Amino acid sequence: MPVLSNIRLLSTPLAASPGRIHSIDHAALVWRDGKILWTGSEKELPEQYRTEERWDAGGKLVIPGLIDCHTHLGFGGWRTEEFVRKIGGATYEEIARAGGGIASTVAETAKLSLEELEHRALGFLREMSSLGVTTAECKSGYGLSVEGEIRLLELYRRLSERQPMTIVPTFLGAHAIPASADRKSYVASIIDQMIPEIASRGLARFCDVFVEPIAFSVEESRAIFRAGAAAGLRPKLHADQLSDGGGASLAAEVGAISADHLEAVSDAGLERMAEAGVIAVLLPIASLYLRKPWLAAARLRKCGVRFAVATDFNPGSAPSCHLPFALTLSVAGNRLHPEEALSAATIAAAAAIAEGDRRGSLEPGKAADFAVIDAESVAHWLYHFRPNACVMTVKDGKKIYEARN
Ligand code: NIG
Ligand code: FE
Repeated sequence: MPVLSNIRLLSTPLAASPGRIHSIDHAALVWRDGKILWTGSEKELPEQYRTEERWDAGGKLVIPGLIDCHTHLGFGGWRTEEFVRKIGGATYEEIARAGGGIASTVAETAKLSLEELEHRALGFLREMSSLGVTTAECKSGYGLSVEGEIRLLELYRRLSERQPMTIVPTFLGAHAIPASADRKSYVASIIDQMIPEIASRGLARFCDVFVEPIAFSVEESRAIFRAGAAAGLRPKLHADQLSDGGGASLAAEVGAISADHLEAVSDAGLERMAEAGVIAVLLPIASLYLRKPWLAAARLRKCGVRFAVATDFNPGSAPSCHLPFALTLSVAGNRLHPEEALSAATIAAAAAIAEGDRRGSLEPGKAADFAVIDAESVAHWLYHFRPNACVMTVKDGKKIYEARN
C-alpha cells in the first residue's frame, strides 16, 4: 500500500463541488490495488499508513490524472501543407471542398496496417502520459466505410488491452461524406450497418456527428443520433464550430452528454444546453489553428453551462496532443480561471465521457490516477508554459512515467 508524501500541494476538485478546487498543503495520498484510500494533511496521516512504503513527491504539486475527453487519435499521415496554405488565407471549408482536409486523412489512414496505426497511436499515448494524461476519449472518423470505421474502433480496443491508459471509444462515422458516396446512402449505411455492428460488438460508448453545413445537417444528425441512442450509444456533437447551425440546440434536444467546439454558438444555444445538462467541451487548440474566436468563459458562466477542455488532437485543426498547452490557451484565450481549467480537464472532462464516478478527482474509492507537477500552484503551472512540467504520472496506482533528472 504506497503512500505519496511530501506533497507541497494536493489540488483536486471534489465530486460534491466540482467547480471548486480543494487544495491541501503538506499533504499525503494513500492507495491500494489501484484505488485511492485516503488523502489529507500529512500531519493527519492515520497511524496504520505510517509504516507503509513511502514515495516522495519532492514538495511538488499533485493533481488528478488529466483526462483528454476529445481526441481523434487514430489516423495516418499529417497535413503540413494545408497548415501552410491556411496561413496564406485558404479556409477550412475551401480545403474540405477541394478534397483536402478530412478526405486526405481518410486516404492516408487506409494506407496503414492496423499494426502501423497502433505503433503511431502508442507513440502519441506515451507522449500524453508523460504530460500527466491518464485517460483519453478516442474517436473513429477517418475510415468512413463500414470496414474502415470498425478498423479504427478495433484499434482502440487493442490499445486498451496493450497499454495502461484508459481509452474511451467514440464512433464518428458521421465525420464527413466520403467522396465516392452519395449523402443519402452514406447516412443510411451509418444507421443501418455501422451503428448496429459497432453497438453489438461493444466497440464504442458514444455516437458523435460533425453537425455543420459543410458536414451533416441537423436533420441527418438527428436521425443518426436516434439510431445510435436506440443501440445504446449516447450522443456527442461537434457543434457550431464554423457557423451557428443549431448544433447546441440539437445537443439539448437529443440529450447529448457533450457538445464540443462551439466557437460560433449563440446564447440561446448555450441556454438550451444548460437546461438539458449538456457539457460544453472547449477545444482551444482548434480555435487557435483555425483562427476562430475564443468562446468566452464569461458567457458559459452567465448561461450556467458546465464546461470541459480537451485537445481535439487530429492532423487538421489541432495537430497537438498536448493537453496542458490546451489548458494554458483556455486560460489565456477563453479566459478560464486556472482552477476552472484544472476542473475542466479532470472532473468535468470525466463527466463529459461518463467516467465521473470512477475518475477525475482524488477521493477515496476513485482510481489512483494522478500526476506530480513541478509548479508551486495550479496557476503557476498554466502560466509558466513549458514543454513538460510533469515529473511523474501514476495510472491505476502504477507509475507509467517518470522524468529523468
Ligand atoms: O474536430 N470538426 C471536425 N473534425 C475535426 C477536424 C478533423 C480534420 O480536419 O481532420 C475537428 O476539428
Ligand atoms: Fe474533433
